[in-house]
Amino acid sequence: MSKKKVIILGCGGFVGSHLTDRMLASGKYQIEGWDVSYDKISQHLGNDDLTFHQQYVDAATTYSELEPVIAECDAVFSLAAVCTPAQYVASPVKTIQSNFIDAYKLIDFCAEHRKWLIHTSTCEVYGRTLSSYVPEDNYDNLDLYEQREDETPLVMGPTTNHRWSYATAKALFERYIFAHNAENGMPFTIIRPYNWFGARMDFIPGRDGDGIPRVLACFMTALLDGKPMQLVDGGEAYRTITYIDDAVDALMLMLEKPKGSKNQVFNVGNRGGEVTMRELALLMRETAAEITGRDEFLEHPIEEISGEKFYGEGYEDCDRRVPDVKKAESRLDWKAKTSLRETLRITMKYYFDNYGRASGINTQG
Ligand code: UGA
Repeated sequence: MSKKKVIILGCGGFVGSHLTDRMLASGKYQIEGWDVSYDKISQHLGNDDLTFHQQYVDAATTYSELEPVIAECDAVFSLAAVCTPAQYVASPVKTIQSNFIDAYKLIDFCAEHRKWLIHTSTCEVYGRTLSSYVPEDNYDNLDLYEQREDETPLVMGPTTNHRWSYATAKALFERYIFAHNAENGMPFTIIRPYNWFGARMDFIPGRDGDGIPRVLACFMTALLDGKPMQLVDGGEAYRTITYIDDAVDALMLMLEKPKGSKNQVFNVGNRGGEVTMRELALLMRETAAEITGRDEFLEHPIEEISGEKFYGEGYEDCDRRVPDVKKAESRLDWKAKTSLRETLRITMKYYFDNYGRASGINTQG
């Protein structure tokens, strides 16, 4: 059987590198991968099933090279994005440009050639929950906070809050996909990830990147550097943490079950992995102690900080993200398998093994 030809935009990123690992291991795919960096996939560069293009995915020149490849491929995964809240607030122009303005041409090309676009959007397009605007509601009514792909309204704060620059750009991108599907029959699949955690996510500031990464890398940096973990606005926000291997299972199933996945939106999240950020900080302290054998991590300092001080003016938070995953279950036969504790154990071991040794922190087992 001939191999399917799949484009991965962002193959060198966190999600892209895990997807590339899995697709190459299956032996069923030929990948045309685009990314500006290849550190996370360097072991695959000699693989005949990977043609790597070292370019910014959103550069104008990339598109002229991309179009003839799109014309010949079976599917396009678009995974590249500016996706850290600190950037939405500090650089809203860049956030909107890279998540929509520099990227919408990809949809035009897929539509022109009637190619299947599999796009990672974000659970952030739902914004805040309706529950958060009902003062007497204490998340008593699931209908007011569970996020259902084809039903739940998008609820965001005012446009003066830059936090929503990303969610609105991503929502417009989704709308443009729907528009091309309706008018030109372009096939698509949209994925809304729920806080996928795993090895190679983000960066550790001062070691392999600058700025403020997402919460996992922020808390890891604090643990590695002996600095307090910072809880934004009391750490009351909830997140639903999903292990990257479970998420990649869903991406592979989408590719393998086109009848179930084409022209659908899917939440990909682990309902069992829901925690507040305060609970996450406490669990990460416990996990750090467990995998390094150092009990002092149990008492690692935690301090509170306001969202405005931590991120800057215009920060607003998503209060809760509970995915309805019935569509992924019924159409793809997918379910998250990995518990939150196991996700943290595997992921944090990776960070300690890769960044901890220089500070004399080793893991056990
Ligand atoms: C981000 C993106 O905006 C989403 O699109 C994406 O789906 C999601 O990450 C993801 O990883 O899947 P968010 O969850 O808000 O959304 O990003 P984080 O930076 O991971 O923040 C999570 C929570 O932790 C927020 O409440 C934040 O205020 C808090 N936080 C973050 C802390 O309390 N301390 C920190 O040091 C960092």
